[in-house]
Amino acid sequence: MIVRYLLVFLLTVLENRVTAQERVEGYKGDNAVLPCIYSGVILKDLSFFWRYKSYNVYDFNKGQEYLSKQYPQFKNRTQVFPSQFEKGNFSLLLMDLKDLDIGEYKCYYPEGRFVQKVILQVKEILPRTDASQLSNNSTTEEKTEINVLLLAVFGVILHAV
Ligand SMILES: *[C@@H]1O[C@H](CO)[C@@H](O)[C@H](O)[C@H]1NC(C)=O
Ligand SMILES: *[C@@H]1O[C@H](CO)[C@@H](O)[C@H](O)[C@H]1NC(C)=O
Ligand SMILES: *[C@@H]1O[C@H](CO)[C@@H](O)[C@H](O)[C@H]1NC(C)=O
Ligand SMILES: *[C@@H]1O[C@H](CO)[C@@H](O)[C@H](O)[C@H]1NC(C)=O
Repeated sequence: MIVRYLLVFLLTVLENRVTAQERVEGYKGDNAVLPCIYSGVILKDLSFFWRYKSYNVYDFNKGQEYLSKQYPQFKNRTQVFPSQFEKGNFSLLLMDLKDLDIGEYKCYYPEGRFVQKVILQVKEILPRTDASQLSNNSTTEEKTEINVLLLAVFGVILHAV
């Protein structure tokens, strides 16, 4: 009896994990792979769809890419991985990330009654430590040190005189 409950509990946990949201982080101007992995059997004439809010991000319809309804924001910026389809991997590569892309995506695989949610975060590329600024600062530091040294030497000389 208890074992049975445990099993049900475990399955529920697993189920929740399967439908859990994925989080993906990328950098502006960089690419990101939005994961969509279905673990069941893949039927022929595969169809799956990616959506952002209500916008069409990417459609694969009955075994073919179908992009004529693609929302302009995503034009020329999407790619899927056909060699991965038979493994149930419908992940989407989104290229040249923009702030506009931030938010929730959904991958639908209707035959499997499967929906994968992906939250995309797009971060600014961290500003590189500006080498010129660094060298400037160190130069000024060096200069002060030399000045202090000079003053000290001067002081010693003055003292000696
Ligand atoms: C997408 O690429 C095609 C072919 O390279 C080009 O003609 C079209 O202008 C591009 N569209 C956008 C929105 O960048
Ligand atoms: C799905 O395909 C993408 C693109 O090839 C790959 O990066 C990712 O590791 C694959 N995921 C799995 C679980 O195989
Ligand atoms: C550092 O030095 C460069 C060249 O001398 C100068 O253009 C720049 O403004 C300096 N930066 C700072 C923070 O002083
Ligand atoms: C260099 O100097 C600039 C301007 O004073 C300052 O903003 C910056 O934090 C300094 N950088 C370092 C590494 O000390």
